[in-house]
Amino acid sequence: MEREPLNVADYERLAEEKLDPGAFGYFAGGAGDEVTLRENVGAFRRLRLRPRVLADVSGVSTAATVLGHEVSMPVLVAPLAFQRLAHPEGEVATARASAREGTIFCLSTVATAGPAEITEGVRWFQLYVFKDRGFTRTLVERAVEAGFSAILLTADTPHLGRRERDHRTGFQVPAELVPSLAGHDLLTPEQTFASMADDLSWRDVEGLASMSGLPVLVKGVLTAEDARLACESGAAGVVVSNHGGRQLDGVPATIEALPEVVEAVGGRIPVLMDGGIRRGTDVVKALALGAEAVLAGRPFVWGLAAGGEEGVLAVLQLLRAELELALALLGCRSPAEVTPAHIARG
Ligand SMILES: Cc1cc2nc3c(=O)[nH]c(=O)nc-3n(C[C@H](O)[C@H](O)[C@H](O)COP(=O)(O)O)c2cc1C
Repeated sequence: MEREPLNVADYERLAEEKLDPGAFGYFAGGAGDEVTLRENVGAFRRLRLRPRVLADVSGVSTAATVLGHEVSMPVLVAPLAFQRLAHPEGEVATARASAREGTIFCLSTVATAGPAEITEGVRWFQLYVFKDRGFTRTLVERAVEAGFSAILLTADTPHLGRRERDHRTGFQVPAELVPSLAGHDLLTPEQTFASMADDLSWRDVEGLASMSGLPVLVKGVLTAEDARLACESGAAGVVVSNHGGRQLDGVPATIEALPEVVEAVGGRIPVLMDGGIRRGTDVVKALALGAEAVLAGRPFVWGLAAGGEEGVLAVLQLLRAELELALALLGCRSPAEVTPAHIARG
């Protein structure tokens, strides 16, 4: 690209130029016909903001508190697997950039770096529960020892969604990038997920919290029914997520599912969301509909592919600058001032 990237879409184009088609397709793709993948972005575009004017927006700050952590903005870095496919420094670079920008980094269970390699900033560990529960316990213990402060239990992946792009490109994770998960040799994403548990239930949330001593957030909630069960099961929070459109194709965009989850939770625990965040204006839309914070996934991997740690930092900074501008133009001095009145209903 000749000119400097101005936005997340520019970083995506840069990443597409740098990565081979198999790796790019792995990061970009979704399940089935990719209806939900497209909707995650499309539904944000359909929402309209209701700005207030003459609201004295001198000194706008994007700072926020998420589960008791002070962050520079309510935008967290979602867990994405196999980041060394995008850049040799992988998750280590993404985590460093997150710490430099003052936000929370989430490490995937199937990362190409272990918890002990991720040492800076506030870190949450995303957990996939394996059929081998002893092995699962080892994974959790490693994260606890490394100073991770919460568990994100991914609940929407009892089986791996079928991502047809990967079949078309014949994508395989190169052997040298296969995470060393305590002697489990995992080759393709399919093989990895074949060894994961499909018998998880709400009872596991409490068990995991007492085993780890950490707050457990349930990632992948899309309905009021499950939001209520999360509250009753001792979850410390929920993440409204459809796994970036990679699991059940045909589920709603997460920004469309958010209001029913927020209503069902009724303020008992924080509600976070991810999926389709590409602009600062998307962040304020999610806040207006009741999210305490959002996570973004692909935008940071595009930054990583484009320029390693500095590329991730650049994407974090551009989203923060966009959020700051959106807040000011909405008439809000902080994320906490965004309310449902800032979004048009119906
Ligand atoms: C390439 C890729 C890998 C992912 N790996 C994981 C993972 O290992 N664990 C997990 O819970 N979610 C995973 N996700 C889902 C993300 O955490 C997040 O829900 C999603 O990417 C948000 O959508 P966005 O990419 O539109 O921001 C992955 C998503 C992508 C695109």
